[in-house]
Amino acid sequence: MRALEVVDLVKEFPTGYNLPPNRVIEDISFEMDMGDRMAIIGPNGCGKTTLLKTLATIYLPDSGSIKLFSQDMLKHRSRARKTFSFVSPSLNFQSKLTLSQTISYFATVLQKPPEIVIPFLKRTNLYKMWNSRIESFSEGQKAILRLALGFLKQPKILFLDEVVANLDVSRKESVINIIEEMEAYQDLTLVMVDHDPYVVDRLCSKILVLKGNGTVHSVSSVSDLMNKLHYNFSVDVTLKSDIPDSKALSISKAMRKNNLKVRYFAEDEKNLKSIINKLISLGPIIQEFTTSSVSMRDVYYLLFEGGLDEGDV
Ligand SMILES: Nc1ncnc2c1ncn2[C@@H]1O[C@H](COP(=O)(O)OP(=O)(O)OP(=O)(O)O)[C@@H](O)[C@H]1O
Ligand SMILES: [Mg+2]
Repeated sequence: MRALEVVDLVKEFPTGYNLPPNRVIEDISFEMDMGDRMAIIGPNGCGKTTLLKTLATIYLPDSGSIKLFSQDMLKHRSRARKTFSFVSPSLNFQSKLTLSQTISYFATVLQKPPEIVIPFLKRTNLYKMWNSRIESFSEGQKAILRLALGFLKQPKILFLDEVVANLDVSRKESVINIIEEMEAYQDLTLVMVDHDPYVVDRLCSKILVLKGNGTVHSVSSVSDLMNKLHYNFSVDVTLKSDIPDSKALSISKAMRKNNLKVRYFAEDEKNLKSIINKLISLGPIIQEFTTSSVSMRDVYYLLFEGGLDEGDV
């Protein structure tokens, strides 16, 4: 069953009297089946949050349609809102309320039993704060609370805007495991914006890549996207002192350089060996280097800054 069908979506923001609007979302179409988990990635300011907010009916689109479980979401906004949660880092709390009071308040508003989120709070180690005021919470603990409130609604669709980004490694792992394991979430359709390749790899089966101009670059599976990057290996180099770009480029043209850090991309093992040999021949100017497989974190560079042609993905 289709959970979400987005057709020709356009969202503009006014820029001032007599000035053309800023078209942030330009004609976006995609669809998701129930249980699909999709990450939205793209450069800063390309419209990821705007797209999520439009899907969550916080913004009205200028044109296009959104169907949620085959129903026009814009015509049936209040009914639609009962079926999804939008978890945003900008959700704030009453700082003087305790965790228990905060959960009770939202449970009353949402007409759900507060007990729903207790297992989640226990797994993420937040339950120990049950009687503590929100003012004593760290940013990571507030992020867990926002997620808990997202789950409290027992949504069929969950929109997450960089919510996991603030969490430490062990909390991230708990959240990933909870979403993966919990019976109740088996049919959960997830749309998330996240920059962490590990999180995206673990949680999402599809990736929607947005371009800087608010159009869709591609919608594909994680493995298809990775396979089309042309490069399989990367070499991270730390220099002892800076070298001219021309010297760095003489080792291999597929590279990005940021002061004393250089990252090279290799297509195959032969190419990797050649880069390593050239690095060794540079001698003492190299502090250290490590090799690894290319990962989701390279997608931005390889898609947007170089390495791939438009038609490749
Ligand atoms: N409420 C608004 N009013 C006017 N312009 C807005 C509004 N919200 C976003 N924009 C503009 O829309 C564009 C896209 O912003 P958006 O926050 O969606 O990007 P993003 O991809 O989420 O970026 P980031 O990776 O930094 O979170 C930006 O140019 C931004 O200035
Ligand atoms: Mg954003």
